[in-house]
Amino acid sequence: MQTATESRPSRPARTPLRPRRLDLEIDAESVPAAWWNDDLILSLFGDSLSLVFPVGERFFVDSVRRYRKQITDEQLLDDINGFTGQEVLHSKAHQTLNDLFEAHGLKSAREREAHVGRLLDRVRKLPPILQLAATCALEHMTALLGEQLLELSRELDDVNPKLRPLWLWHAIEESEHKAVAFDVYETVGGGYVIRTGVMVAATIIFIAEMVHIHATFARDKGVLLDLKGWGRALGYLWGRPGILRRLVPGYFHYFRPGFHPNDRDTTSLLDQWRGQLFTAPTRA
Ligand SMILES: [Fe+2]
Ligand SMILES: [Fe+2]
Repeated sequence: MQTATESRPSRPARTPLRPRRLDLEIDAESVPAAWWNDDLILSLFGDSLSLVFPVGERFFVDSVRRYRKQITDEQLLDDINGFTGQEVLHSKAHQTLNDLFEAHGLKSAREREAHVGRLLDRVRKLPPILQLAATCALEHMTALLGEQLLELSRELDDVNPKLRPLWLWHAIEESEHKAVAFDVYETVGGGYVIRTGVMVAATIIFIAEMVHIHATFARDKGVLLDLKGWGRALGYLWGRPGILRRLVPGYFHYFRPGFHPNDRDTTSLLDQWRGQLFTAPTRA
């Protein structure tokens, strides 16, 4: 499997962003609650991520599109459209998974989603540049998460086949559009101090929310105190294969003064996986 390298591809190599639609045919019968590595607590971590995508990605799109009128670069305007199309379709596809939560016994899902919605409503009252910086920070995290899934395909292999196209497709597109919010931020004059300060705040809030949602889902399923189960799931995430452990170095690259998301060149990694994606039930 190809791995990402630390060199920035030249600007002209940037390929146009193209939203692809994923037709996800799932129901609570065909997708078990323990859909990731047959491990319920691990799957609840994936559910927690999926829960925040629809509401979070709507926020990302709004924070970027607000600046559209200030952008004159045609390629960046095209990228904003591609980014918007991709995120809108991600939200819809994750909603399809989220619609199974009730049948999977996650009775707190709606309440948790409403809580994240209220949190983002408060963030929407902040100055637009802070909202855009928050989007840059979270887009960096989603891109890293996606790239780690693609680099070490074992985690994807462990996903229930009905859901594998969702996570593969989302991982590819997060990496494809990882520079869009950042390029808008730099174009409209966003600087280092706000970018990194907001990253620190966004990380703390994001982790706190994820822990809260994950623990609430575990309580819903009666496994909150299953210490052995937690050990197994956390060992998978932080030990081996360790998707969260492996994204830590890339996370800290964001704090380099001259950082750009394309410093991490994932061109060949993406080329390799796009071929596999098109064998999945997707429609261009
Ligand atoms: Fe997305
Ligand atoms: Fe994204």
